[in-house]
Amino acid sequence: MDALKFNKIAAAVLSGILLIMVFGKIGNILVNPNTDVSNAYPIQVPESASTEIKEEKEVVIEPIAALIAAANIESGLKIAKKCVACHGFDAGGPNKVGPNLYNIVNKDQGKADYAYSKVLASLTGKWTYEELNKFLYKPKLYSKGTKMNYAGLSKTQDRADLVAWLRTLSDNPVPLP
Ligand code: HEC
Repeated sequence: MDALKFNKIAAAVLSGILLIMVFGKIGNILVNPNTDVSNAYPIQVPESASTEIKEEKEVVIEPIAALIAAANIESGLKIAKKCVACHGFDAGGPNKVGPNLYNIVNKDQGKADYAYSKVLASLTGKWTYEELNKFLYKPKLYSKGTKMNYAGLSKTQDRADLVAWLRTLSDNPVPLP
C-alpha cells in the first residue's frame, strides 16, 4: 500500500470517528440526560375521586374528657358569645333561632320543646361530653342537614372550655368525667 492510499484510508476512518463524536454530542444536548429531577414541579394527584367519603373518614376529633376537669370556664363563657345570637342559656328561658341550652349536658338529643330539623329530631342518644364535643367540632358533619348554621369550633381546647362552662348551667351539674 502506498503512503497516499494509507493517508486516504486513515482520513476516512478519522472523519468517521469524528462524525460519530459530533452526532453523539448533539444527541446528548437534544435529549439532555442530565436533567435534575429535583427541579421538576411536583403535581399532586388526588388518590381517589371519592374525596368526600375519604375526608369524612379521615376526620379525627380529639376527645375532650381528659381536658374538662382542668378546662377554663371563663374562656368557655367567652366562647359562648358565639352562640348567643341563636341560643339562650337561662333556666326556663325561651328558645331563639335554636333551642335553649340550659342543662344541655347529658340531656336527650333533639327532644326539647322546639321544632328540630329531621336529623336532630331523629337522634336517640344524650348530649354527653363527647357527643357535644363531636357536634361542636362541625355540626354539619355530625348531623348532615341540621339547621344549626354554625361552622364549628376546630380547637379542642375551645370545645373543652365551652363544654366545661355548659356543664355549670344546671341546678345539678353532671359529674366531671
Ligand atoms: C346561627 C345560629 C346558631 C348558632 C350561632 C349556634 N347554634 Fe346551636 N343550634 C341552632 C339551631 C337552629 C339548632 C337546632 C338544630 C336542628 O334542629 O337541626 C341548634 C342546636 C344546638 C344543639 C342541640 C340542642 C338539643 O336540644 O338537642 C346544641 C347542643 C347547640 N346547638 C349548641 C350550640 C353552641 C354551644 C353554639 C355556640 C358555639 C351554637 N349552638 C351556635 C342554631 C345555632
